[in-house]
Order: sequence, then C-alpha cells, then structure tokens
Amino acid sequence: MDVTKRYRTVAWATGVVGSAALKRIIAHPQLDLVGVKVYSDDKAGRDAGELVGLPPTGVVTTMDVDEILALRPDCIVYSPMPWDTAEMARILRGGTHIVTPCPFWFPFIQDPETTALLTEACRDGGTNLHASGTNPGGIAERFPLTFSGWCNRIDRITMTEYGDCRDYGSVGVIRELMNLGKTPEEAMNNPIKEALTSFWYEPIEMIAEGLGSEIVDYAQHHDFILAAEPIETAVGTIEAGTIGLNHYRHVGRTREGTEIVQEQVWFMDDLSMGRLESRMDIPRASGWRIHVEGDVELVVDVEVAPDLTQPEKTAQGMSTVGFHCVNAVPDVCDAPDPGIKTYLDLPMTTGRIGTHRTRR
Ligand SMILES: NC(=O)c1ccc[n+]([C@@H]2O[C@H](COP(=O)([O-])OP(=O)(O)OC[C@H]3O[C@@H](n4cnc5c(N)ncnc54)[C@H](OP(=O)(O)O)[C@@H]3O)[C@@H](O)[C@H]2O)c1
Repeated sequence: MDVTKRYRTVAWATGVVGSAALKRIIAHPQLDLVGVKVYSDDKAGRDAGELVGLPPTGVVTTMDVDEILALRPDCIVYSPMPWDTAEMARILRGGTHIVTPCPFWFPFIQDPETTALLTEACRDGGTNLHASGTNPGGIAERFPLTFSGWCNRIDRITMTEYGDCRDYGSVGVIRELMNLGKTPEEAMNNPIKEALTSFWYEPIEMIAEGLGSEIVDYAQHHDFILAAEPIETAVGTIEAGTIGLNHYRHVGRTREGTEIVQEQVWFMDDLSMGRLESRMDIPRASGWRIHVEGDVELVVDVEVAPDLTQPEKTAQGMSTVGFHCVNAVPDVCDAPDPGIKTYLDLPMTTGRIGTHRTRR
C-alpha cells in the first residue's frame, strides 16, 4: 500500500450520508476533492466546503453529470437516493471507480442481472465497484466475519440493529425503504418490498461465502407496531394508525446448518414507546449487536456514546456510513482484476489520519 498516493475523488449527492462522505473526502489525507454532484438548484453552484459547514474548498457543486465525468475522477463516492444502475454502469465504463452505500454488497445471487451489467461495465472501464456503509456494509457482514475468526464451531451469527429513527431526515430511506409512516397495506404493496428482502440476504450470503459455505434455506419474518398518536419526526408527522415500529428478521441457513440472522428494529419513538400501540422490549434505542453462538459465544455491542443526545447519536451513526465508504477509496481504486469488490476481496478498510508508513 502506497500511503502517499493521491486519488481524485467526487462526492455524488450530499444528503445525510453524502454530506458525511463529502466531509471525509475533504479531510482524508490521500484524497483530492475534485467535484460534487448535487440534485437541486438550491445546492448547485455552491462551494463544497461551505455546503457542509467547512472552510471553502474552491470546488463548486454542480447538477451537471457530464461536467462531473469530464473531470475524469479516479473515484466517485455515490450516495444518491434512489440510485441508478444505468448511471453507475456509465460511470464505471468511463473509467471511474465507485464506492457506494447503496445495495451492491454481495449482489451475485440476489440480482444476477444487475451484477452482470455492472461487472461488464467494470471490465470495460478497468474499474471497481464496492458497496460499503454501516448496516449493511459493516455490522451486517464485515464485523461478524472478523469475529468469526475467533471461533471454532459456529451455530448462529445474529446481527441486530436498534434504531430510534426520528432524527434521520431522509424521506426516501425512512418512508420508502424502511416503510415507517406507511399503513400496513401500503407497506405490504410497497414495490420496493422484494428488494428490501434481497438487500438483507446479500450480507447473509457474503458471510456464508466468507465462511466457505453457501445458503441453502432462507426465511423472513416481519411484524410491526402502529403509532397510537401523531409523532413529529425529521421526515414529518408519523400519523396514528401508520407503522411506528418495524421489526424485520431475515435468516439464511448454510449447508452445514449455521444460521445467519439479520434483524432490524426501526422505530419512531423513544425507548418507552409510549406513543406506539404496544412496546417491544429491546436493550437500547440506537446501536447494533453482533451475537456469535458456538463453542465460543460472543456478544459485541456497538453504539455511539450513550451520553450523547438522540439527534447527536443519529447524526454520528449516519456519518459512519459515509466515512466507511470514503475510507475504502484508495483500496478500491488499487484493487486488481476489475469488477464488483466485496470485503472478501479488499484489504482491511481502516481510517487514515496521515501518510506515514514504517519501513519494513
Ligand atoms: N449501507 C448503509 O449503511 C446505508 C445507511 C443509510 C443510507 N444508505 C443509502 O445511502 C444512500 C443515501 O442515503 P441518505 O440517507 O443520504 O439519503 P438522503 O438524505 O435522502 O439523500 C439522498 C440524496 O440524493 C439526491 N437526490 C435527490 N433527488 C434525487 C433523485 N431523483 N435521484 C437520485 N438522487 C437524488 C440528493 O442529493 P443533494 O442533496 O446533493 O441534491 C439527496 O440529498 C441511499 O441510497 C441509502 O439507501 C446506506
């Protein structure tokens, strides 16, 4: 690894995750911010630093895709909602790598068609695509796989996310992807429902692959609790009678019988759940638990500092998504054999604070 090498990098979309990614690109000692793609007149033509409360960078935001591609960046950190696979293929084919928090963590089994499209684009452009993030993109597969290295027999690996989502301001993610604030009927008929399931099977399949196995049985379970009264949130009012808590559980069983479980508890109230029709017993309002069961039993709890306010916890938790993506940029740009790169293909993604390397 050459820690002095530099990478021309673009931040594509500056929502909740993209803003964090932009801050990290500006701060990263090996990255040069060369462009920022935005989606509204309000945000276009502004200095990238000022957009995220930092000193001016001299880089001006644009809505113009061609202008961004003409910069010939090494890598684009691609964080829009929704994402566009045709657009991603164009970027990759044109010779620019992509790191994204969008669902391409291990798409090979769940979405072979898109996998083929993007793999071909990577091969044409000599580029790599890597999906990162926090969950999926960290808790769901990277960290459990790391802890699996401490184990002998593995019976079950469970990853659980607890999320008080009231302060997460992405309408697209909260209302469309997470189904919060929808009536049960609307949630049932949400066209993205099938895709949401496959997003959770992707990290399950990546873990199985990392353990040298494959998934032979799949199961899913969904239950929810309705809001009993209107609840004010960063994405507007969650009305009484709409979903105020969603509990998803996706399970894959490997050929050898190991269960891999992805569980999400997303809700729009505080831990008392006093404004919901009933409450679910969970250990804390926000954070993640990795539970590995076998002849070694590990419980790894990850949370942003408990003494922070809930809005601070949400802001920091969401920032990790963008930071994790950006920290992968050098390794993604340098990975050999163009294609879709998962954590199983890349070196360990670390933070980067300087450009020193001890001579060995
Ligand atoms: N893996 C993980 O852990 C993880 C966690 C959270 C989110 N995500 C993913 O990260 C992505 C960004 O999430 P977010 O929370 O930042 O969402 P967000 O706050 O809603 O931001 C999305 C951004 O997309 C841009 N946009 C607006 N209209 C668009 C359109 N019609 N088509 C495409 N993009 C448009 C906007 O950029 P400008 O503001 O620059 O105009 C907007 O701010 C999502 O795809 C989400 O699924 C992943």
